[in-house]
Amino acid sequence: MADLKHPELEDLLREDRAFAPPADFQARANVADPSIYAEAERDPEAFWGRLAGELEWSRGWDRVLDWQPPHAKWFVGGKLNASVNCLDRHVRGARRNKAALVWEGEPGDRRTLTYFDLYRQVSAFANVLKGLGIKKGDRVGMYLPLIPELVISMLACARSLRDRMNDMKASLLITADGGYRRGQIVPLKQVADEAVADVPSIKNVVVIQRGGQGMPVHIKEGRDHWYHRLMQEAPLACDAEPMDAEDMLYILYTSGTTGKPKGIVHTTGGYLVGTYATAKLVFDLRDDDVYWCTADIGWVTGHSYVVYGPLANGATVFMYEGAPDWPQKDRFWALIERYGITILYTAPTAIRAFMRWGTEWPRRHDLSSLRLLGSVGEPINPEAWIWYYHFIGGDRCPVVDTWWQTETGAIMITPLPGVTTLKPGSATRPFPGISAEIRNERGDAIEVGGGLLALTRPWPAMLRGIYGDPRRYVQQYWSKWGSGVYVTGDGAKRDADGYFWLLGRVDDVINVAGHRIGTMEVESALVDHPSVAEAAVVGRAHEIKGQAIAAFVTLKDGVADGTRSTKDIANELKEHVVKKIGAIARPDDILFTPDLPKTRSGKIMRRLLRDIAEGKALGDMTTLADSAAVEKLKANYEEEYG
Ligand code: WTA
Repeated sequence: MADLKHPELEDLLREDRAFAPPADFQARANVADPSIYAEAERDPEAFWGRLAGELEWSRGWDRVLDWQPPHAKWFVGGKLNASVNCLDRHVRGARRNKAALVWEGEPGDRRTLTYFDLYRQVSAFANVLKGLGIKKGDRVGMYLPLIPELVISMLACARSLRDRMNDMKASLLITADGGYRRGQIVPLKQVADEAVADVPSIKNVVVIQRGGQGMPVHIKEGRDHWYHRLMQEAPLACDAEPMDAEDMLYILYTSGTTGKPKGIVHTTGGYLVGTYATAKLVFDLRDDDVYWCTADIGWVTGHSYVVYGPLANGATVFMYEGAPDWPQKDRFWALIERYGITILYTAPTAIRAFMRWGTEWPRRHDLSSLRLLGSVGEPINPEAWIWYYHFIGGDRCPVVDTWWQTETGAIMITPLPGVTTLKPGSATRPFPGISAEIRNERGDAIEVGGGLLALTRPWPAMLRGIYGDPRRYVQQYWSKWGSGVYVTGDGAKRDADGYFWLLGRVDDVINVAGHRIGTMEVESALVDHPSVAEAAVVGRAHEIKGQAIAAFVTLKDGVADGTRSTKDIANELKEHVVKKIGAIARPDDILFTPDLPKTRSGKIMRRLLRDIAEGKALGDMTTLADSAAVEKLKANYEEEYG
């Protein structure tokens, strides 16, 4: 990371650095009193009940928690609607004409929707959905750029459908003609058409006009409908369905340790309470904030902290459609200046890219509107933390490093910016009401030191299951140390002040630029290619992205016959993985090898491959079947990528 260091930071980069909440921040903070931790600890259910009471329920709950480990029901008997809590409740009060979404497209086009606008459009689109025959139990797929219609579509589903999900058995797909990325229009509708050809369940496709004029779009009569036409005719009022607190809100697919992604199930009441409470207390949301979470809405961070958490708080949410380096590398800073953004929530991988691009880009802009910075998705190294704090936050904004997962639904380990003294690189302490521990393999709690991170008490936004696989839910998360202890899959250490330092995954999941990818998934995609006999995939350290994907591939006999270069074959395999999983899973390195290193019992030695990919000295190879082959593999790797 040497080239990312900056002389101005030397003074800040000391071992004992700690940053107490600035006095003026603390004076206005939503929470400035640390007694909130004791309150939550004394009676966690009462604590969550108090926060739940700030939402609108059409029927109150009978019990806060019904816990039959590892199965939880929260706010049992309660009824509410997520879209009512994000919209109607604000429209009835003082936030009626407040900006809900402030949006800028990549080409520079702008839109602002007030809470009332959003409420009307969501209601109208909920009527459109009903008009298309979508009803309870139906599934709606969305393939959209970051445009306001994505939020409208999500809230319209939350308003009128129950048990919806985003898998490919959808009966309706909502897409756009195109979306902007680095000045190009991505032909989304065309891609969607190809996908829909393989999904006979899709009866209707709603197309939002985004690419604009001149974009040739094939409209299939009877199946495809323009969004703006449907909206013109839709009634503007739509009563919201009262949902049971435990009715499913959505499913998000995420990577696990096997080749098959897991559909993580979130329900309405607990999830909304968790995202509402954390957004309010961690981001210290106030009515005059302009809040920007840069995550794509397709990931959990976007669900919880672009849509549900901030809108349940009545916040003004900023959204930007495009790339951070378009048309120049100062786009984020230009947006912060133009819109007076006060809270920025982004990922370490983005921060490290900004560091690499240089300080001249943020220096061109007035960033003094910012008052709070956030980080999520992977461990933030102290250098990146300090850079963010100094060059973006002007030494005045607390940095909240928030640890959580798709499964946890909401932030779990985090500072409270008006309370917590920050240590760069540490996510600090569990959120009030959350109980976290470091454990060794045997399950003993470790007060000070390193081990595995566990959550030892249920929490409202916790996953309720893995869709269609109840056994895996129990096995994967709640079996290692008894049915009441949630296994996170992350390593962490705790220091003498009780601060948590996250160390990354301990399983076969790698974290590339804040996105979770299972090594097995990439391996499955590679062996799916007709040229590949066997593949092993590992994560290796990467300066910007945190981790990069290294693949070791054995080709089938006769493939490398000299008619094509290995580089061409490698590129073809990379594209194949992109097609099967997505751009985020594109392997950075592919090394061809006639054999993969295996133990005598035939297990691929991934640890060894990781050492090779990271250029480390090779450790003990006594269990290896063929150690000379490994030395050769290492030499080849260094030649190719060293
Ligand atoms: C990692 C994203 C360190 C961790 C919200 C976790 C983090 C996985 C942090 C979940 C953080 C997330 N510090 N590591 N602040 N935040 N992680 O499901 O390994 O996409 O298990 O959820 O990201 O990734 P997911």
